[in-house]
Amino acid sequence: MRARIAVLASGGGSNLQAILDHFDRLGDARAGDVVLVASDRADAGALNRAVGRGLPAVVLQAAARPGGAPLDALLHDHRIDLVVLAGYLRLVPAEVVARFRGRMVNVHPALLPAFGGAGMYGQRVHHAVLEAGVRVTGVTAHFVDEVYDRGRIIAQWPVPVFPRDDAGTLAARVLRVEHILYPRVVAAVAAGRATLDNCALIDPRVPVDARPAFTLLAHEESRLAENIDLALGC
Ligand code: GRF
Repeated sequence: MRARIAVLASGGGSNLQAILDHFDRLGDARAGDVVLVASDRADAGALNRAVGRGLPAVVLQAAARPGGAPLDALLHDHRIDLVVLAGYLRLVPAEVVARFRGRMVNVHPALLPAFGGAGMYGQRVHHAVLEAGVRVTGVTAHFVDEVYDRGRIIAQWPVPVFPRDDAGTLAARVLRVEHILYPRVVAAVAAGRATLDNCALIDPRVPVDARPAFTLLAHEESRLAENIDLALGC
């Protein structure tokens, strides 16, 4: 039984598109299907992409009262198993996050916990990376919990910062790596390969042999080689 996936997006939807394309390539081997796209913005390009695929494309009404009733009911009505945040700029109501614990993921255009948290999204992230003078940024895919950008990390991938980068060139290089990493994370979570319990927990307080060992990149090493030039911005 394939997982029924909802994608929440506020912007152009290039990550949504990368996920749709990756699942098309997986064909019958895919473990899920995107069956719903929702946005807090009626003009989101992600909604147009959904319509182009014949998928339900729903504008989330600002909840008349806090609590996300419209989102909760929508996910229930569409029998959603996995929620994928792909540039969704609203905080998901706590009761929805609680209901989808271990079944809601997000992608962030930096190496969390660095350059994350409330207000850190889009170009703001890349400006902060450049201002900090770091030489490496990257992409983080993680489970969602009640605090922005804090949930258990599923996978990360490094992206170099070049001396002549501005926020635009850096964002473009990071986005290309997002489009490689995120669909594979979504596929792994949909297939039950990456779970809240088995994602590599590198916690010195936990005895080494008691630490979960799953790392997506360990399974995808073959892809690292073929795609590392992408991360290097060649
Ligand atoms: C991406 O940069 C992602 O890291 C961030 O929001 C952006 C979404 O872009 N969470 P798109 O709408 O998928 O093109």
